[in-house]
Amino acid sequence: MNQVYIEDISKYVGERVTISGWLYNKRSSGKIHFLIVRDGTGFVQAVASKSDVGEEAFELLKGVTQESSLRVSGTVRADERAPGGFELLMDGVEVVQIAREYPISLKEHGVDFLMQYRHLWLRTPRQHAIMRIRAEVIAACRSFLDNNGFLLIDAPVLTPAACEGTTTLFETDYFGDKAYMSQSGQLYMEAAAMAFGRVYCFGPTFRAEKSKTRRHLMEFWMVEPEMAYVELDESLCIQEQMVTYIVRQVLSKRQRELQTLERNTDILEKVSPPFPRITYTEALDILKQNGVELEFGDDFGGGDETILASQFDRPVFVTRYPTKAKAFYMKPDPDNPEVVLCADLLAPEGYGEIIGGGQRIDDPELLRRRIEEHNLPIEVYQWYLDLREYGSVPHSGFGLGIERLVAWICGLDHIRETSPFPRMLYRIYP
Ligand code: 4AD
Ligand code: MG
Repeated sequence: MNQVYIEDISKYVGERVTISGWLYNKRSSGKIHFLIVRDGTGFVQAVASKSDVGEEAFELLKGVTQESSLRVSGTVRADERAPGGFELLMDGVEVVQIAREYPISLKEHGVDFLMQYRHLWLRTPRQHAIMRIRAEVIAACRSFLDNNGFLLIDAPVLTPAACEGTTTLFETDYFGDKAYMSQSGQLYMEAAAMAFGRVYCFGPTFRAEKSKTRRHLMEFWMVEPEMAYVELDESLCIQEQMVTYIVRQVLSKRQRELQTLERNTDILEKVSPPFPRITYTEALDILKQNGVELEFGDDFGGGDETILASQFDRPVFVTRYPTKAKAFYMKPDPDNPEVVLCADLLAPEGYGEIIGGGQRIDDPELLRRRIEEHNLPIEVYQWYLDLREYGSVPHSGFGLGIERLVAWICGLDHIRETSPFPRMLYRIYP
């Protein structure tokens, strides 16, 4: 048995092969079945004529339902008219299991219904395209950082302290003490940066965010680089190079998937450094010109970010947000302590913030004061304060949200499809 995968089928023209997979679709006429078989790597048409497969197999195939598992054998033929350019002229079949009536038919279904069957919905071409692009984005993040001197250091998921504010913590019991699901690996990466210079973590992060928007998940994956002796401006240069690299990798390796998603790639092709940089205060002016009146100190909502991003043809950095709108660890701008040395990167086309980051406070006294002002329990931040006592240096980092980036690159209208099993407000099944 010459067992092959559909993605390699072009190498086997004229040869007899076996494909192990599932039945995606079937059309039959009196003496011939046209099966669309998928094996996870692709879809191929397998043609079974009564004369080639024999009476018994032909009858068996009549009863094979959508998503039944089966092995089909036959000769690979190049045919321009076949979907994908190749087909299998079958001479044998082994049915592994006949599937019960499949809930997801090939007609349109509502998203709520599909989310309930997420474990099965993943089998469709559109979901395959998204998951492959997601994998490519993750691979690109890692290869960019690995090749630019960053060391992978894993951050813990169970933590004693908040990084991004106490209102979005998922709490759990830790042998009688309180523990929280990590909102960000950043604080640990700061420790790692003081040990190794340039580091990053990549892992799941959690936010009990009671917001039902098309940009929020309760659980998402974040890549978080942190760099010793790097100030804000240099960090922005690294971010724009990294995002450009990721977009180019997807464009060069996942064209077919982008086509499946009918993604117009014009904007993606324009992505190249430098990205425009505007300050929060300049952003307020732009919003004002567009009829949105915000006061200094207000945070931007999703609609505001969309207006800001639409002024530019590539991602835009918004820098120097008001100190009081941002997290406790952000370093004030020495020229104006009302704002911090931070930046959010906003994606084009209404996808909102894909990166948040900035320069961290390196002064122990100021950091201690901020922890107190934010009403955070100082005991659990003692180790974090230590970093400022033993060789403190200017340092910066950022967090890139994988799902937001994938949603933009794929051109999806909701973040939920970027995660294989999304955790959303009021939905934790399947
Ligand atoms: O801006 P955030 O909250 O920044 C941090 O967590 C920093 N500690 C990161 C760092 O400097 N190391 O989150 C960073 C990114 C956002 O820009 C967004 O892409 C994503 O994480 N993100 C979410 N993605 C999906 N659902 C949510 N609820 C998200 N919250 C943040
Ligand atoms: Mg943010």
